[in-house]
Amino acid sequence: MGLFDSLCRRYQSLFAHAHPEEAKLVELHSIGQAESFLAAYFAHEYRKGADAVARFASLSSEWQGGRALDFGCGAGGLTYRIAEHCREVVGIDIEQYKLDFTAAQGERLNVSNARFVCSASETLPFADASFDCIFCIDVIEHLSTPERFVAEFLRVLRPGGQLLLSFGPPWGHAHGKHMWAKLPGWWTHLLFPRPAVMRAAGFPPQTTWEELGIHRLTVGHFERVMRRSRFQPVYRRLLINKLVAPLRFVPLVRELFIAEVIGVYRKPTKGIA
Ligand SMILES: C[S@@+](CC[C@H](N)C(=O)[O-])C[C@H]1O[C@@H](n2cnc3c(N)ncnc32)[C@H](O)[C@@H]1O
Repeated sequence: MGLFDSLCRRYQSLFAHAHPEEAKLVELHSIGQAESFLAAYFAHEYRKGADAVARFASLSSEWQGGRALDFGCGAGGLTYRIAEHCREVVGIDIEQYKLDFTAAQGERLNVSNARFVCSASETLPFADASFDCIFCIDVIEHLSTPERFVAEFLRVLRPGGQLLLSFGPPWGHAHGKHMWAKLPGWWTHLLFPRPAVMRAAGFPPQTTWEELGIHRLTVGHFERVMRRSRFQPVYRRLLINKLVAPLRFVPLVRELFIAEVIGVYRKPTKGIA
């Protein structure tokens, strides 16, 4: 084991407070208990989904009552929360095994207005202007071509329809590596060479971030994608710890501390089909 490997492992041990819920999910996943993992993952998303829906309901009422798309729906916990506020919701994800599990939850929850579609295509399998709103929660940082999907969101939304989006932590944040349990150390991914980081996380050293579904999305990159799109911003918030709040105005340095990006965007009513 090289010097960086040993330093990286020691650094992790300084942060013994691994997120307990994340640690449980990682454990269930690693021991191959698919059903238990999905049940725990669904419960986690269902709880988190209630907060996400409440947050966007407090920011805008325009999206409620219509037809919704839940892009990157995972095990569908959020999708069923959206169903409580919309006429119909379609959850889409690339992972069929999650959708098989979640489709079966509708009966248990007594929800009949949610359905699920599996697609890995960069072209969404939906007609133009067929949704009133799109939820994209904790997904955009996992896309290799976010601009391509943002263009698709614009296409499938009706004019005046809303994109409700949040993601985080962005790449520059202490937890931008999205491995709270395996790599609890702050900014490990920026402080150590990738092979050492991957070994410390239990992956082969040649593993890339992209192979783990982490596409290193920064706040700046996300803002450029949205500026270049035809979406009109309705609301935007950058969540940052109060102790360092003024740093959100400092270019580049802000990337280290912004924990979450929240935005509501509207498709223009004129000029786009
Ligand atoms: C962190 S989970 C978020 C799940 C859910 N939105 C939530 O907030 O609970 C990210 C999800 O995005 C999905 N995903 C990644 N790339 C995707 C793509 N190109 N199209 C659809 N879903 C995708 C993943 O399979 C995963 O289920």
